[in-house]
Amino acid sequence: MDLTQAYRRGETEGLLRLDANEGAPPRPELMELLRDCPAEALRRYPDARALERQIAESLDLDPGCVLVTNGGDDAIDRAIRAYAGVGAGAEGSRAGGVALHAPTFSMTHRYSALAGARERATPWLRGEFPRDRFLEQGRSANLAVLTTPNNPTGLQIERRLLCRLLDELAPVPVLVDLAYLEFAMVEDAPRAELCRELLEREHVLIVRTLSKAYGLAGLRVGYALGSPARIERLRAQGSPFPVSAISLILAAKALEFGPDRDDLRNCSRRRVDLGRRLQALGLESPPSSANFALGIGGRAEQLVELLRERGVAVRAFPELPGLRITCPSSSEDWAELTAALSDIELVWNQQANQQGDQAERGSS
Ligand SMILES: Cc1ncc(COP(=O)(O)O)c(C=O)c1O
Repeated sequence: MDLTQAYRRGETEGLLRLDANEGAPPRPELMELLRDCPAEALRRYPDARALERQIAESLDLDPGCVLVTNGGDDAIDRAIRAYAGVGAGAEGSRAGGVALHAPTFSMTHRYSALAGARERATPWLRGEFPRDRFLEQGRSANLAVLTTPNNPTGLQIERRLLCRLLDELAPVPVLVDLAYLEFAMVEDAPRAELCRELLEREHVLIVRTLSKAYGLAGLRVGYALGSPARIERLRAQGSPFPVSAISLILAAKALEFGPDRDDLRNCSRRRVDLGRRLQALGLESPPSSANFALGIGGRAEQLVELLRERGVAVRAFPELPGLRITCPSSSEDWAELTAALSDIELVWNQQANQQGDQAERGSS
């Protein structure tokens, strides 16, 4: 990875933005809070303790088990630096590095590289999670990272396998990135129960975010969960005031409301439909449990361009090769995307028919 090149989102001005897995627009009630934000909140350094207590209470955890971070990104960065970075201390001679599955969230790769940690990647693009290979890599790593549902594939590690893996990886610290969990588990109680079950293991840390199901990527609020000792270690790894006061106020309200369940259910229907449409265009599409679908295949690059010509921005993954399309949350955006895909399918079918005719004439 070239660390002199920053991650930059592609230009999306004037396009339908389906390139960054952002969720449905936030509730109007949150906008009212913005207007009423007290001046004192702007004057003082922000204090995330109330939000940490609120999150802990909602999950039935000790408040010391929660660290509010500047998006999930910040939690991942802190965890990698804490356990596999230059300053990792006695526990982490850097040699073990970070075990992860690939492809995964691009910033996880980048934070590992920035921390100077060796990346131990296990390929996982399709099918079942490659448990044996991952264990081989993970057992001698300083930190293992499991992202489920994974980005960009949308694949999930089945719950029993995940728990077994965590047990088998102990005592290696494992960061479980659950950024897209709401799209796989719509109801609040089972999500909380899953987090508690994973956290029964002292070596486990969890990453969560308000950027996806809550539609609040602009707030930059995420959080890490773990044992009080591990959370304290993550807290020491970064800025003491990572989240603005305004973001803390809005996040508290958003968490009180919870994500929009109708939107989550809508998304689970649309991602299946989107997967089928990608398959109809000749791409492979793994079953997604997140708010996007991945298309893999040689024509992905061309499809990205054709969608852009039709006003739709999606994320290209030339290294797969593939493209990832975020499920639009509104009916209008869904109609725009599906019209663009149908149009491209029509054009490609016409081209295929013409080529077929030419081949037939050539052979006769
Ligand atoms: C798997 C995964 N984890 C974490 C994040 C971080 O999200 P944020 O920093 O916006 O909370 C993302 C964002 O795309 C993601 O895809």
